[in-house]
Amino acid sequence: MSDHQYFEDDALGKAYDSQLMKRLLQYVKPYKKWIVLALAILIISTLLRLAGPVIIKLAIDEYIAVGDADGLGRLALLYAGILLVQFFATWGQIYLMEWIGQKAMYDLRMKVFRHVQGLTMDFYDRNPVGRIITRVTSDINSLNELFSSGVVNIIGDLFTIFGIVGVMFVINSKLAAITLIALPLLIVATILFRIKVRHAYREIRRLIAKLNAFVQEHVSGISVVQNFVQERRIFNRFNDINRELMGRHHKSIIYYAVFFPTVEIISAISLGIIIWYGGGQVIQGAMTFGTLVAFSQYMEMFYRPIRDLSEKYNILQSAMASSERVFKLLDTKPAFKTPAKPVITDGLKGEIKFKDVWFAYNKDEWVLKDINLHIRTGEKVAFVGATGSGKTSMTNLILRFYDYQKGSITLDGKELKDFDGETIRKNISLVLQDVFLFSGTIEDNIRLGNGDISREQVKKAAEDVNLLRLGNGLKRGLDTNVGERGGMLSVGQRQLVSFARALAYNPRILILDEATSSVDTETEVIIQKATETLMKGRTSIIIAHRLSTIKQVDKIVVVHKGRICEIGSHDELLAKKGIYYNLYQLQYKDQELPAAV
Ligand SMILES: Nc1ncnc2c1ncn2[C@@H]1O[C@H](COP(=O)(O)OP(=O)(O)OP(=O)(O)O)[C@@H](O)[C@H]1O
Ligand SMILES: [Mg+2]
Repeated sequence: MSDHQYFEDDALGKAYDSQLMKRLLQYVKPYKKWIVLALAILIISTLLRLAGPVIIKLAIDEYIAVGDADGLGRLALLYAGILLVQFFATWGQIYLMEWIGQKAMYDLRMKVFRHVQGLTMDFYDRNPVGRIITRVTSDINSLNELFSSGVVNIIGDLFTIFGIVGVMFVINSKLAAITLIALPLLIVATILFRIKVRHAYREIRRLIAKLNAFVQEHVSGISVVQNFVQERRIFNRFNDINRELMGRHHKSIIYYAVFFPTVEIISAISLGIIIWYGGGQVIQGAMTFGTLVAFSQYMEMFYRPIRDLSEKYNILQSAMASSERVFKLLDTKPAFKTPAKPVITDGLKGEIKFKDVWFAYNKDEWVLKDINLHIRTGEKVAFVGATGSGKTSMTNLILRFYDYQKGSITLDGKELKDFDGETIRKNISLVLQDVFLFSGTIEDNIRLGNGDISREQVKKAAEDVNLLRLGNGLKRGLDTNVGERGGMLSVGQRQLVSFARALAYNPRILILDEATSSVDTETEVIIQKATETLMKGRTSIIIAHRLSTIKQVDKIVVVHKGRICEIGSHDELLAKKGIYYNLYQLQYKDQELPAAV
């Protein structure tokens, strides 16, 4: 259990990458009109905000100074009006931006999920589940922050900053110039802070990914952890990661704790300069008192967006990194594609032929070598062989989970590569060694959401495999809840649910990767009967671990180190005294054949 695979490739990305931004914008394009509206509102509300201090200045200089109470009243009304408009503008703008963001992220999530569903098995071999989950959830969430945390408001912030400077210069250029003396200091402080925090943030993100992966793995494997009494060791490792994460947070907190008061002080210095210099000017009569008040208000408005900018910058950066990862996933191509004009069939008969087939999961590491095999329509075939010999791999090729490199596999005489994966899998049911059930009821798991299968058919399938008779019986019948991954059912019951599922789907071809786990004799008999029912009238390939199954098939295919060594019936192969004979001696001989019921 090493951690290295969980290190998220979290290099220090650019905070702004126009290429990525362009692609991201594709997702908000459908909402262009709304964005334009939001931006228009943003500009209006910013302008209104900038008007505030000017009105105060007017109030002081034009009305209060000359004692015009009526005028002051009118101005107050105007001010109230502006505030009201500003309220609605801000409301509209926040609402629109959030709404657009959620819509766009909804679309993107759908797209990523659909894409992931279409990827071939080799992708899933290479990528841990946790990483794929992160893409669909937290990566997209951090993109969403672009909208929700108001990073889009950066435009508004910049607008405010330049607007303030502009207005100040218009009102009193000399005072404006003096006010901005402290600005370089602020710029230096912001840059320093940004560099430090950027690094800390990257580390924090890396550690959070590591923590997530760690928790996920050890919660999934909790039974192993508890069984082997590993809690303390695992807890200590968790503690290490957690402590490191806290340490990083601690560092970033220090930077924040220094940065914010620094900005406060710089802003206070600026204010001091305004009062000192501007106050002097007022005393000398070179400037109005209103101007002084307006300036000091602008100063306050000036520093807030600057302080926010550095935080938004971080969000922008992590959103860029996330979008890069999401797009990388979207750019992952399936290892092979559906042909442009796939074979159309009304229904397969179920004849399978391997001709000189070679196959490797990883380049040049041949797992299947020169496979030749003919399975006739309706024939029942058992694959036997030592563990790792390549039995499952052969069925993986038939199901088109992987692409074969050499030779040809045909289905009803037509090349497998010319079919569309969906057609193939609709006609083939796979009953797996470790049965995967989804949370829900037994009926849900048999039907798998297929509306064409009626409750009656589900019931019949369950009865045909004797599912409800097993053990103490399932008290709530088909409505029994199976729990996550079917954890609330016994191994035998889970097997039978997957048998019933296959039966209800009524495929032309059945592939059964038989469970190696042993079950009690009664269950064994029920499973054996269910297997017989399942094989009836269809081409069946069974990766057999039970002697009882092997005895039922038409022919046995012996796989050894990726090659087919022997083909024949049980008796023929025993007489041959070859690999099957040895296998039989080692593996099957001691199995008792249960009496048929
Ligand atoms: N997804 C994969 N990626 C890379 N190699 C794989 C993959 N799956 C299987 N292999 C390798 O291919 C070989 C054949 O595996 P396969 O699963 O076909 O064996 P098997 O005969 O079904 O064994 P078992 O009886 O244990 O199920 C093994 O050496 C295995 O390590
Ligand atoms: Mg296998």
